Amino acid sequence: MIDLHSHLLPGIDDGASSLAEALTLAQMAVDDGISHITLTPHIHTGRFDNDISTISPVFSAFRKAIEQAGLPLTLAIAGEVRISDELLLQIPQKKVPFLGEWRGKKVLLLELPHSHIPPGSEKLVKWLLNQGIVPMIAHPERNKDVLRNFDLINPFVEMGCLFQLTAMSVSGDFGRQSELRSLQMLEKGWVTILATDAHNIKHRPPVLSEGFEVAKKIVGEVSARALVLDNPRVIAGL
Ligand SMILES: [Fe+2]
Repeated sequence: MIDLHSHLLPGIDDGASSLAEALTLAQMAVDDGISHITLTPHIHTGRFDNDISTISPVFSAFRKAIEQAGLPLTLAIAGEVRISDELLLQIPQKKVPFLGEWRGKKVLLLELPHSHIPPGSEKLVKWLLNQGIVPMIAHPERNKDVLRNFDLINPFVEMGCLFQLTAMSVSGDFGRQSELRSLQMLEKGWVTILATDAHNIKHRPPVLSEGFEVAKKIVGEVSARALVLDNPRVIAGL
């Protein structure tokens, strides 16, 4: 399986806190059947002031450590980008890394705040699309506005956004409401990928298999495989 959303890079966001923890998480991913991880640290102005220049050296060191540990993983670099007006500057300045490509457009892993969908979000998505960038909305099933009112996701579906569900939401580990929204999105065929969004060993481990098993029951084996293998492989260009 291929995981396109993870916070294993140590010390640059709220994910792995040390190289030792990062390597343990990588081993857990391998044990779960994951063969590729795209590292997506938070890029969130004022909270995690990352861009390509801060992520790259940490990524290089981590890749070296993975090689030295002999772990059978391929790695790539990207980021989980918080929606903000700063993007209007950061994207033209090429400071923001992309997840890959999908149908001729660059894919940006875009994070909404958990509390709500900010006013102006649709306008920003339209601006991104005009730049040849398609947003992949990270874990919409955990957004409180979407939890309150499922219809609030419709404009993003209609604009052609991609959607990433967190595997642990699908398997019910983020509560009944997020599980329900996950199932609704799967049934509607709106989901592009499942990903782990792994942060730590105890509460947010890099496990895709449990979400895959639940997805299989809802959309069937072929479609479920697309969510953890075929679609992420296309996006990552593997
Ligand atoms: Fe994340």
